Amino acid sequence: MPLARLQTQDDFDGWRAAARSLALANIPAEQVSWQVGDDVGDLFAGVTETAIPPAPADAAFSVSRIFVDLAETAILHADPERFALLYTMLLRLRAQPGLIDDQADPQRRRIEEMAKSVRRDIHKMRAFVRFRELVEDDGTPRFVAWFEPEHHIVRANAGFFARRFTTMRWSILTPEATIHWDGDTLTEGPAAIKADAPDGDPIEEVWKTYYASTFNPARLKTGTMIKEMPKKYWKNMPETALVPGLIAGAQNRESRMIDTARAAPGGNAQMALDALREEAAGCKRCPLWKPATQTVFGEGPADAKLLFIGEQPGDQEDLAGRPFVGPAGQLFDRAMAEAGVDRAQAYVSNAVKHFKFEPRGKRRIHSKPNGGEIEACRWWIEQEREIVKPAVTVALGATAAQSLLGKVVTISRTRGSPIALADGSEGWVTVHPSFLLRIPEEDRRAEEYARFVEDLRRVWDRVGALSG
Ligand code: URA
Repeated sequence: MPLARLQTQDDFDGWRAAARSLALANIPAEQVSWQVGDDVGDLFAGVTETAIPPAPADAAFSVSRIFVDLAETAILHADPERFALLYTMLLRLRAQPGLIDDQADPQRRRIEEMAKSVRRDIHKMRAFVRFRELVEDDGTPRFVAWFEPEHHIVRANAGFFARRFTTMRWSILTPEATIHWDGDTLTEGPAAIKADAPDGDPIEEVWKTYYASTFNPARLKTGTMIKEMPKKYWKNMPETALVPGLIAGAQNRESRMIDTARAAPGGNAQMALDALREEAAGCKRCPLWKPATQTVFGEGPADAKLLFIGEQPGDQEDLAGRPFVGPAGQLFDRAMAEAGVDRAQAYVSNAVKHFKFEPRGKRRIHSKPNGGEIEACRWWIEQEREIVKPAVTVALGATAAQSLLGKVVTISRTRGSPIALADGSEGWVTVHPSFLLRIPEEDRRAEEYARFVEDLRRVWDRVGALSG
């Protein structure tokens, strides 16, 4: 029986090399055993191990880039079956490459779900790790955090923390491994236990102060804020210690706090969005980041009940770093005002966060994002939706609809009725404002504009009905 040995739980290169050799030798998935580390364990004791035939150096081997990217993320999932599942999918894709676009295929979907869960875990680690300060023997401070990831994401996340906390010396302890940064080099150590991490310290004060200033007593009364914080992380958050005090003092501070809450609605959802925005600023998931000026992230209240998805930033948005500020944005604002939608209460974002264009002389001409770019960027909009939790999400145009629904749809067929989304909320599809700008005949433009305003009025009514 071929035994494919991987060095670590997140050994994507090892999996890739083994999978390539196995596939070139036509070894069926059910004949392969995947093993992490040297310890063969009881399950395989007595099994005769066959070497994997090395792949010929010049063997042609190609597989969809989308699958490779998906596999690189899904391999970090905690499910021990993932190596076999990915290999099975690889064999199926070699026989039928078009399968990669089949969103209904159960194995493809399982892998997508795994990748999604891993990305969520990566983001949670970034948003919720809290450092406590220790003084080392040489008198210098070291910041130490304890974190319990769900998946094998610690190594994949180490670079983020090194970039974000470059000037600090820090260690993150987890039940799988520890990572350390000395201001220059990342190193790795063995697994830790929670008791290894220190309790309470000054750096928490920074978080506590921030947290208290964004704390919204109205939310506390309904319990919403506590529900929003994943329970799993809640127990490790230093700000938990603040909650009883906040409850006791909430009445007295109410009017002052309500002002603060207005300034930062959404409490910890706002913190999570801020962390996400910061992460997105460095996004290189597809090549569009290179020619663009900057990532244009979503904008609006972290607890908005209505969320709009556009296509991608245009020339002016790319320069301003804000969505929908150019001609399409102005038309959109006018239509929202006519429909009675308060833009300040809506969260507005895009399916693709970088401006895609073709240079023509001094001008930059908008170019439509392709399926791969929409897919690569879906991670951000999904995270935004997950944090904001809108009752209604509106896709403006075909690109946004593809991103929201995970498949290509025809606007005329999907427009006008609610679509049940996987998270239990409601989706709507309508045209993109720039479609209206492009209609040459005045009469038709006015007609389509009126239909668009009517769509907006309708979704705003739905927001009222669902939130009231
Ligand atoms: N068009 C979009 O889809 N989004 C913007 O932000 C601007 C124009």
